[in-house]
Amino acid sequence: MTDLLSALSVRFEGLFQRRKRGADRIRDLPDRRLLATAYIPALAARGGLILWVGCRAYTAEDYPALEQWGAEVWTTDIDPKAARWGRAGRHQTGDLCQIDQVFDDLRFDAIVCNGVLGFGVDSPASQEQAMTAMAGILKPGGLLLLGWNNDKIDDPLKLSATGRFFTTGHIGSQPPRVRFDDVTHVYDTLELARPVH
Ligand SMILES: C[S@@+](CC[C@H](N)C(=O)[O-])C[C@H]1O[C@@H](n2cnc3c(N)ncnc32)[C@H](O)[C@@H]1O
Repeated sequence: MTDLLSALSVRFEGLFQRRKRGADRIRDLPDRRLLATAYIPALAARGGLILWVGCRAYTAEDYPALEQWGAEVWTTDIDPKAARWGRAGRHQTGDLCQIDQVFDDLRFDAIVCNGVLGFGVDSPASQEQAMTAMAGILKPGGLLLLGWNNDKIDDPLKLSATGRFFTTGHIGSQPPRVRFDDVTHVYDTLELARPVH
């Protein structure tokens, strides 16, 4: 029995360490470092209600960072299994393309939608739906931080819903669009300019 317990403990420790190393590798990418050191502190300083879309093990430490000065973070993911990496007590499983129905009673000051267009929300039609649905749950002047990869999808600023509802915005001292030399990631900051209804 003791042997079995210690074998299990070694196995779980190995699994935990492998997962931690994977998360550390992702968090060390230049786009993640900018997210953690510039966008998240600036959004945290703005406060209010913040929606984080797409939850993985490596995003779990971003919610307390966003909440450090009083903001309230909600999280969502289409994958029910991702709930364990969501904000405890404030997570809803749902499809970004219908996120206005998932959060029909909340209006957000900011949405962080990083690595979801092109990682599940892939067709231009679904991206149009997602942009419209996100516009529907932002407060007037609310901010959308959209992270995407230019080797995965076409420029989301060319979607008709983006032009219809959003204008360019700023988070902290970052320009509206940020690109990287070493990775294909792009960040766009958008501000809700016209309400959906
Ligand atoms: C590459 S991960 C990005 C995770 C995280 N947002 C980040 O900053 O890296 C993509 C995530 O989007 C979720 N996802 C894919 N399609 C979705 C959809 N239609 N609605 C909500 N979440 C979706 C996946 O389940 C996955 O957790």
